[in-house]
Amino acid sequence: MLKAGLIGYGNMGSWHVENVNSRIEGLDIVAAYDINEERAELARGVGLTVYNSAEELLASDVDLIVIATPNNFHKPYAIAAMEAGKHVVCEKPACMNSEELEEIIAVSERMGKLFTVHQNRRFDTDYLIMKRIIEENMLGKLYFLDSRLYSNRGSSGRWRATYEAGGGTLYDWGIHMIDQVLCLVDSDPVYVFSQLQSVRFPAVDDVCRVVIGFENGLKAQVVADLWCYINEPRWHLSGDDGTASIDRWFGKEAKVVRANTKEVNWEQGCVYTSNGLSKTMWPRPVQEISETTVTAPENSPVWEDFYRNVVDVIENGAEQIVKHSEIRKSMRVMDAAFKSAKDGSCVHLK
Ligand SMILES: NC(=O)c1ccc[n+]([C@@H]2O[C@H](COP(=O)([O-])OP(=O)(O)OC[C@H]3O[C@@H](n4cnc5c(N)ncnc54)[C@H](O)[C@@H]3O)[C@@H](O)[C@H]2O)c1
Repeated sequence: MLKAGLIGYGNMGSWHVENVNSRIEGLDIVAAYDINEERAELARGVGLTVYNSAEELLASDVDLIVIATPNNFHKPYAIAAMEAGKHVVCEKPACMNSEELEEIIAVSERMGKLFTVHQNRRFDTDYLIMKRIIEENMLGKLYFLDSRLYSNRGSSGRWRATYEAGGGTLYDWGIHMIDQVLCLVDSDPVYVFSQLQSVRFPAVDDVCRVVIGFENGLKAQVVADLWCYINEPRWHLSGDDGTASIDRWFGKEAKVVRANTKEVNWEQGCVYTSNGLSKTMWPRPVQEISETTVTAPENSPVWEDFYRNVVDVIENGAEQIVKHSEIRKSMRVMDAAFKSAKDGSCVHLK
């Protein structure tokens, strides 16, 4: 049985403890450190051995450290843990930027210790449905992928509302959504254009929009907006043979509408409005299109597979499923998104 220690027994840290200890065979989170005594007391209350410092936790006999602190502490704790001979699972985002990430990866390689990031949104049903639609080539040549998440509750504040701690929507939700998009599109990102807005939180973005252009011509857009009262679909994917849409986060099925024929009969009809006419806006007749629903494949991966893989990497040298190359790629897009928003520029990656 592998033993893990947790740094940061906050909302997500306590989630890791509860879920790893009840759902993952071969791994137990047995110890913790939290800078806040009230949180440390809560960790004691669920049976964890709580240390008075991170150094004491790192000197204990745990095999793995799970980092769930605010984002600015990810790098120093990840490096200290690996230098103490521990493997590391780090909450997203891996750290604040690519420069920090390279330092972390160098230590991981030098010490021969696992460093991976908890990209748990790779297991969301809506994402897995989109993955299936793309893998089974249901829509012809893809040209636009829209990934959107809306809330109207703003940010929970505290460290999330500060720049220094890595607050803001891009670090919080953008990283999940960028990771998903980069996993879905089988091509390298070549440019990034981004707009970050501070609607109510002056120090950080509470609305982020990131457009990513890919080498194969596909464009994707990631939108996370914390002040929106009317949602648009969670996913919208356009190909030259059809369109797919999933209305909400964790939606169980996609609506897929496809053309039965590539031919378009322009003589079929016309929309007349009081202000003019349009042939372009005349909808295709029902016999020319077909509508289906698509669900996630039955044998889809589940969240537990993330930690099963962590155990497998540590015990058997398996390949990690959230790879350094993927973490690097998403961090480069994050860096570019921050730069683009600051300069009002389009940032080219190649
Ligand atoms: N993957 C996901 O689904 C998901 C969801 C939520 C949060 N997160 C990530 O988890 C991390 C924590 O987020 P949260 O919502 O749990 O925040 P939180 O504020 O609820 O918890 C952070 C905890 O870290 C402790 N802490 C702060 N500074 C510390 C330090 N220097 N050393 C030790 N402990 C320290 C705090 O006392 C607190 O208990 C962030 O990186 C966040 O992005 C991931």
